[in-house]
Amino acid sequence: MIEPRKAIRQLNKYRPPLEGRGGRLRLDFNENTVGCAPQVVRALRRWLDPDRLSRYPEYEEARRKLAKYFGVATGEMLLANGTDDAINLICDIFVDPGDVLLVPAPTFPIYEFFHSVAGGRTVRVRYDENFRLPVDKLIGAAHSGVRWVALANPNNPTATTIPKPELRRILQKTPNTLVLVDEAYSDFAGETILPWIRKYKNLVVTRTFSKAFGLAALRLGCIFAHRDLAEYLRRGQNPFVVNSLAMAAAIEAIRHDAYRRRYVQEVLANRKRLCESLEALGVPYVPSSANFVLTRVGERAPEIAARLRRQKILIRDWSYDPHLKGYLRFTVGSASQTRKLIAGLYRQQHLMERRTGARAWADIVRHPSTGWFS
Ligand SMILES: Cc1ncc(COP(=O)(O)O)c(C=O)c1O
Repeated sequence: MIEPRKAIRQLNKYRPPLEGRGGRLRLDFNENTVGCAPQVVRALRRWLDPDRLSRYPEYEEARRKLAKYFGVATGEMLLANGTDDAINLICDIFVDPGDVLLVPAPTFPIYEFFHSVAGGRTVRVRYDENFRLPVDKLIGAAHSGVRWVALANPNNPTATTIPKPELRRILQKTPNTLVLVDEAYSDFAGETILPWIRKYKNLVVTRTFSKAFGLAALRLGCIFAHRDLAEYLRRGQNPFVVNSLAMAAAIEAIRHDAYRRRYVQEVLANRKRLCESLEALGVPYVPSSANFVLTRVGERAPEIAARLRRQKILIRDWSYDPHLKGYLRFTVGSASQTRKLIAGLYRQQHLMERRTGARAWADIVRHPSTGWFS
């Protein structure tokens, strides 16, 4: 048997996304739950012909149109096979075995996954018990041995954002450390620091077509950085990493951007409804800036998730993380999907650790130091 590299031998097996999600209410992966703009599907149908399919992808048109849409120069942008691939590329280009990645905890696990594949070590800075990121601690931990910092903004699974002044402070205090700001959910937060790539040469920003745009199956992401940094990334990138269909879809999706904007507005309205229901149920949640909400339902979270699953409602149980035992995360979708989720939650309320009376949910807002989420 041929042995793999040491980093691979030591790697915890990555648990891939669950299969068999079709035909269910998918509130477990923070995707767009209603689908992309219908014009995109029509354009893809028109696009399909044997001549096009037999040719290797050509990138210039997509790069030009996408750069214009995002307000950057083509030299400041790379296409990637989803954000996951962008993270992999950052590791390929910048990480040597033994290098350190600094991440908040909890966060999206893929940063640590690809960093470990590259042979790196990860240092985590925990959110406090009310899910605020201790930024000073993070900056303190970003000493000279730290190669890169990965910040999802908004973060997954907390749905919290790092305020811009804090992000600026992190970038300024760590000029020799690469800082990735993953904006997979920024559509829902209505904020971006994309223009900062011109100012901070250590900043990489990523965006994806998997979430608000509803194109997760096609795997398309964009990487933005100062042109010098972008040039390094380009040097080591697989030249045919993105397929032609994904680009055709993205071009059509940005042409019909009003559809994305409407979807975002719908999600924000439904997020409010879901949070109101959680309050009525006495279930604490972390105020969300994304298309999902993290809640604490207590010890029986796995059972609640399993029961919802039997009702064909898929949600994410975070109990496997020792710091998130008792937590569930719900993706927010359309009004009718949110109603189904709320009805499902009411059916399981006898299993929830509810906070009522003097311990009511509202107390966490008034007295955040009570550490309700811990
Ligand atoms: C913070 C964050 N970044 C990136 C991704 C994945 O994006 P993509 O589909 O572009 O690889 C996810 C998916 O859940 C995510 O939560």
